[in-house]
Amino acid sequence: MRIVVDAGDITRAQVDAIVNAANTGMLGGGGVDGAIHRAAGPDLLEACRQVKRVNGMRCPTGEARITPGFRLPAKHVIHTVGPIYTSVPNPAELLASAYRSSLELAVANDLKSLAFPAISCGVYGYPVHEAVEVVRGVLTERRWPLDEVRFVLYTRDVYEAFRRGLQDLIGP
Ligand code: APR
Repeated sequence: MRIVVDAGDITRAQVDAIVNAANTGMLGGGGVDGAIHRAAGPDLLEACRQVKRVNGMRCPTGEARITPGFRLPAKHVIHTVGPIYTSVPNPAELLASAYRSSLELAVANDLKSLAFPAISCGVYGYPVHEAVEVVRGVLTERRWPLDEVRFVLYTRDVYEAFRRGLQDLIGP
C-alpha cells in the first residue's frame, strides 16, 4: 500500500473516495466539510439526509458512512467524525477509530485509493503532532488491502507535520 502526503485541496483529489471530517449530524458544516459539500453539489446533502439516524446521530464519533461523490472527481465520499479533542476522555482512541472505520469502509466497498484530510485538526482542536502519531498507529496496525492512501493537507504547518511524522512510511 502506497502512502502519499500532499499539500492541497482534497475536493480535487483523483481517488476512489475522499474522506470528509464531518459532524454527527452529517448535514454539512465549515472547514473541509463545507468545501466538500460545495464541490459535490446539493445532491450530497440529499444523500446525507437519507442516512438513517442511530440515537439521533447519522454518524457517531469514530464511525464512518459512505455516499456517492456526485460532482467531485472522487466517486465516493466517506464521512467520518473525529473527536473534539478537549471534550472526550479518550481522543486518541476515537481519532484512531475514525481513520480505521474509514479504511475498513473503503475495503468493504472494494475501493483501491482513498484520500484523508487531517481529521479533527481544525475546529475540533486536535494537536497535529499527536494526530499524526495516531495515524501512524492505524496505518501500521494491519496490512490494508488498498493500493494507495493519500493525505491531502490544506495548510503548511499541517502538511509539514504529516510529512515529518509519516516520512518513513511514505512510498517512493
Ligand atoms: N482540503 C483539505 N483539507 C482541508 C480543506 C480542504 N479543502 N479545508 C480545510 N481543511 C483542513 C483544515 O485546515 C484542517 O487541517 O481540514 C482539517 C480539519 O479541519 P476541519 O475541517 O475544521 O475539521 P475538524 O477539525 O474535524 O472539525 C469538524 O468542523 O466543519 C465542521 O462540520 C464540521 O462540525 C464539523 C467540524
